[in-house]
Amino acid sequence: MTETSNSIAAIRGQFLDFTDVIDSPSELEKMLRHFEDGLLLLRNGHIEWFGAWEEGKSKIPENCSIQHYPDKLIVPGFVDTHIHYPQAEIVGAYGEQLLEWLDNYAFPAEKQYKDKEYAAKMADFFIDQLLRNGTTTAMVFCTVHPESVEALFSAAEKRSMRIIAGKVMMDRNAPDYLLDTPESSYNESKKLIEKWHKRGRLLYAITPRFAPTSTAEQLEMAGKLKSEFPDTYVQTHLSENHDEVEWVKELFPEQENYLDVYHHHGLTGSRSIFAHCIHLEEKEWDCLHKTDSAIAFCPTSNLFLGSGLFKLDHAWDKRVKVGMATDIGGGTSFNMLQTSGEAYKVMQLQKQKFSAYEAFYLATLGGAKTLSLDHLIGNFNIGKEADFVVLDPVATTLQEKRLEKSKNVADSLFSLIILGDDRSIFHTWVNAERVYKREKNE
Ligand code: GUN
Ligand code: ZN
Repeated sequence: MTETSNSIAAIRGQFLDFTDVIDSPSELEKMLRHFEDGLLLLRNGHIEWFGAWEEGKSKIPENCSIQHYPDKLIVPGFVDTHIHYPQAEIVGAYGEQLLEWLDNYAFPAEKQYKDKEYAAKMADFFIDQLLRNGTTTAMVFCTVHPESVEALFSAAEKRSMRIIAGKVMMDRNAPDYLLDTPESSYNESKKLIEKWHKRGRLLYAITPRFAPTSTAEQLEMAGKLKSEFPDTYVQTHLSENHDEVEWVKELFPEQENYLDVYHHHGLTGSRSIFAHCIHLEEKEWDCLHKTDSAIAFCPTSNLFLGSGLFKLDHAWDKRVKVGMATDIGGGTSFNMLQTSGEAYKVMQLQKQKFSAYEAFYLATLGGAKTLSLDHLIGNFNIGKEADFVVLDPVATTLQEKRLEKSKNVADSLFSLIILGDDRSIFHTWVNAERVYKREKNE
């Protein structure tokens, strides 16, 4: 684990964040905080002071080193609200929509994670990918094998990262080699919760894969776990693809709609995150709102798997929390800038606006709110955990040219989400320690 006891650091540069959570994009500008020349003081993994350099420079303790980032932009660490670590190796698998893609690519890849050593190697690879893309918090699917969860939490703990993850529960409609049972999934999940939930910065998510791969008996066990450990999370998939939605209707004819399958088993709530939510009925939107459940918006995945266009405007109208998500490996990039750029295109296709401020909000404080972690991460408020990313706005010659024409901060940020990628990530800091440094430019 990274040593942070009584360590202090001072960071100087241009900063941007949002001071509070919002209910509508119209409130974004009010909450925007931008210092051209700012100072962030860190102590013991937390933010001790944040403000303008001129105001704060006298507060820097003697002997404290100052890390100065001229010409960079420092924002809170990105929050990825839905991602599968065992699917990193199958990103960009050709030619299928969801159900065929699962059978042909995802399930065979996940088989390998029974092997502890393989899982450990891939967990390290996965965490490295997050950090080289500026993502400091993620909500992660492992596989059905407890070994895969052990490997991920161990890799995250080494870097003091805030990670929410869980063992997939899946007792039907998948290859035999990936199936558990209601009892074994309950017992294994419980053991993992007792070992990992709230250990350092780690949190556990009860993880039924999606309604088609669990029997009602297994969903009942998932609900039982949630009632026994109420401050754990729930993560699953909801209404991603038309064939999937039809299948759920056949499998659970007694439930009114897809979300009702989860709601009936006690799996909705303020720490429940549902990935995709593209084809929801109005009643499902109402249930998400009433139960304070949240959505993970996965634009690259929704485009790549041809699933459909997420109605972000409707989520705002219905006051349902939304976070950005990569959904690797249905999604095609670990990078939140690229993910935001694709979100813009998803909104364009629906004739809706999506500003760079909205993108940065959803990727930081909005994501934190989605995960009920906004009291701990998501902006530079004093007392929060010191996770942030130093962006290079001119990582390529094309960006350099484009920025010469930039009119204001919003325009510069917008060009960053359209042209940015992992080259834009200069340094990543987790828990007040620099954990990633870009080695070379374009
Ligand atoms: N629905 C059930 N499992 C999955 C998965 O692994 N990826 C995506 N995108 N959707 C799913
Ligand atoms: Zn997913």
